[in-house]
Amino acid sequence: MRDRLQALADAARQEISGVSEPSQVEALRIRYLGKKGELSAVLGGMGKLPPDERRALGEIANTVKAELEQLLADATKRAEEAALEAQLKGPKLDVTLPGRAVLPGGRHPVSRTLEDIVRTFARLGFEVAVGPEIELDYFNFEALNLPKDHPARDMQDTFYVDEPSLGHAKKADSPSLLRTHTSPVQVRHMLSRKPPIRAVMPGRVYRRDSDITHTPMFHQVEGLLVDKDVSFAELKGTLDAFVKAFFGSETRTRFRPSFFPFTEPSAEVDVTCASCGGKGCRVCKQTGWLEVLGSGMVHPNVFTAAGYDPKEVTGYAFGMGVERLAMLRYGIDDLRMMFENDARFLAQF
Ligand code: PHE
Repeated sequence: MRDRLQALADAARQEISGVSEPSQVEALRIRYLGKKGELSAVLGGMGKLPPDERRALGEIANTVKAELEQLLADATKRAEEAALEAQLKGPKLDVTLPGRAVLPGGRHPVSRTLEDIVRTFARLGFEVAVGPEIELDYFNFEALNLPKDHPARDMQDTFYVDEPSLGHAKKADSPSLLRTHTSPVQVRHMLSRKPPIRAVMPGRVYRRDSDITHTPMFHQVEGLLVDKDVSFAELKGTLDAFVKAFFGSETRTRFRPSFFPFTEPSAEVDVTCASCGGKGCRVCKQTGWLEVLGSGMVHPNVFTAAGYDPKEVTGYAFGMGVERLAMLRYGIDDLRMMFENDARFLAQF
């Protein structure tokens, strides 16, 4: 047993002298001095020895243990010093290197444009209203004078959903959908209050469309004004004032007859092309004009659906696409840039 102790001590001395990392030192400590280590294994058989043998052997064991502990402590110190040395010799911190720039954040061009539109109308006395993006077929189509099977429903390819519309009692057998325009908010807003009404309604809308100039989600701002004796001339004056505030005072407007089921008469609004000043260029396809808005006088059937008497009130409504206005205003020629979140693009706003 003495020999085994000596052999163990020799082996341990040699191994400990060869290690250079704190983790290796710890592994050796466990291996030799741990509860299930080699020293314990040798001493395990001591119980069977005669008492004086046992005492003598115990003394040797204690000396060996103390020596190994000391060697291990020294090795740890050596290893730590070596690690520190290596760190000091390693790559140094160069305080003269230029720092990594933190790019300033910016508001997305769509958000900026949407806020600008809303702010411009706020100055004209319009309040802001919102409605749900998951909408009932009833509000998105029927109440807007688009009965089932009306051919004009094909103008807007619709996403239908299983989810019931949020926050509103489900209307009997009206399917749910992602609203295809912000016009349903007109009806909701009228149902929630009495005339006069003067409100803009911004938000996301969804259509089954995806190509270079269409994305399945985009933003609109709806406008609605209802009162006694509202005229088409007021619609023209208001939109002309908006266009001049948004695009610049030199911009002119043109109203072209158009069709929407929920307005009558209806008009599309063009503005003079800012890229060429109206002379004709690639942006305006040589026409000098850009289409920016849909509008018209609120259809009597819409008033009826909203519980208003069309003999008592008249009103106008309009709707515009925010991405399109942002592209025209900032000279962005690819709609997809809006949704790619490329920091180099976004940092320009
Ligand atoms: N809702 C129409 C669209 O999405 C725009 C519009 C709104 C037209 C209000 C007239 C009145 O194209």
